[in-house]
Amino acid sequence: MIEFNNVSKKYDGASTYALKDINIKIEKGEFVFVVGASGAGKSTFLKLMMREEVASSGEIIVEGVNLNTIKDKNIPEFRRTLGIVFQDFRLIPTMTVYDNVAFAMRVIGTKEKKIRRRVPYVLSLMGLNEKARSYPKELSGGEQQRVALARALVNNAEIIIADEPTGNVDPQMSYEIVDMLMRLNEAGTTVIMVTHEHSLVKCFDKRVITIEKGSVASDVARFTGESATAHINAASEISNEYVVPPDEDYSAYVSRDAAASASETEEAEDKAPEEVLEGGEN
Ligand SMILES: Nc1ncnc2c1ncn2[C@@H]1O[C@H](COP(=O)(O)OP(=O)(O)OP(=O)(O)O)[C@@H](O)[C@H]1O
Ligand SMILES: [Mg+2]
Repeated sequence: MIEFNNVSKKYDGASTYALKDINIKIEKGEFVFVVGASGAGKSTFLKLMMREEVASSGEIIVEGVNLNTIKDKNIPEFRRTLGIVFQDFRLIPTMTVYDNVAFAMRVIGTKEKKIRRRVPYVLSLMGLNEKARSYPKELSGGEQQRVALARALVNNAEIIIADEPTGNVDPQMSYEIVDMLMRLNEAGTTVIMVTHEHSLVKCFDKRVITIEKGSVASDVARFTGESATAHINAASEISNEYVVPPDEDYSAYVSRDAAASASETEEAEDKAPEEVLEGGEN
């Protein structure tokens, strides 16, 4: 469980609070969208829960770890229980795509044999196999974002904290990414995801926390879902380059695609699409 009790955050030198009196509980296994205007405090909320920033007052507890009292030397160990996608990606520029993802496994002491199987598998899920040898600066924004996601997923973290993981990809890809996070969530992973895409939030029936000017303006347990097609259509009105037949069943598409990618890696062969994300780790 993630618990914020009366949490406020004022950055050094700032005149106003980035977050004020936040009280939130997120249960293990929940999927939560965090929405709100630019500057509302969404990234600050995520940075507090990963102990990248420290609360000015109040108490934050993540899976039993009190982030107010955690010792500095224990912070890296705490963060390794999280899969984090930063808004600015934070890929290591001197490492290839493969090594950026592999690095996340190396720091927790995973054996190279397992890394060699797991990394290509996760890259294939993100459609990045062809880019394994590229460096971050050789990738588009959307490709870099998918590398950041692959890195966040590769260790099967208990909690995924993703700051706008779909901010740089097209509507269909953003739908597929959320669908993938949703499937991880169904397997027990807690997912907290910031997004600006309201049409995306509407098509997935999940809890939505709205932050406005540093406060929780609303916290809706479930959104009355609209169809995935509505999201893609709403998005394609903005971007004409993206034309999608209105009746396409996207969940089927995502599963087919994931299955096709998975079959390219030996360890994932013979797995049903719904097992795909749990595969490739033995
Ligand atoms: N390191 C910092 N030092 C000082 N002020 C900061 C810092 N980081 C964020 N802020 C301020 O805190 C407020 C909340 O910022 P935050 O990054 O959490 O917003 P956000 O909701 O994630 O916005 P966006 O949608 O643009 O990413 C803003 O007013 C911002 O200027
Ligand atoms: Mg932000």
